Amino acid sequence: MGARHPPYLMATAERILTDEMVAAIQALLPRYPTRQAVTLPALHIVNNQLRHVPLAAVVEIAELLELAPAQVQDTLSFYGFFKQDAPHGRTRAWICRSLSCALRGSESLIEHAQQKLGIASGETTPDGRVTLEEAECLGGCDFAPCMLAGGQLHKNLDTAQLDRIIDTWE
Ligand code: FES
Repeated sequence: MGARHPPYLMATAERILTDEMVAAIQALLPRYPTRQAVTLPALHIVNNQLRHVPLAAVVEIAELLELAPAQVQDTLSFYGFFKQDAPHGRTRAWICRSLSCALRGSESLIEHAQQKLGIASGETTPDGRVTLEEAECLGGCDFAPCMLAGGQLHKNLDTAQLDRIIDTWE
């Protein structure tokens, strides 16, 4: 019988960051004044691929940038944008809850989305289709209420439009 690594050794030998992610992060280094300044863009590079940034990836980013893992983790926690325990949905939908949107009904839009999707804000549907988020001002106050999803700002939303948009997400 051949030698086999215990499962924990195999797990630690598995790298989270792909060669492409490492190359993309390294390509940023000459463009920033310090390696630490690359932390946030590096987190985005990993998040764009994995839809979350697990702790093991934080450690690997820290190694690449010659930082302590806690420094990278501090940046990750500060922004509150990155999921760590599990990937966010294939579509991440941010419904604005700030003043202009709240005055024009965003609270009921959020409740409507929660009911339609069967999840609370901050959660992901079990099929991984959607993560519902509540956002601060999305910069579209003149068109309140707004939602940012799939890279698109949806304006002047009502529940019927919201339903139609949600139904397009795969
Ligand atoms: S308050 Fe919602 S976009 Fe500004």
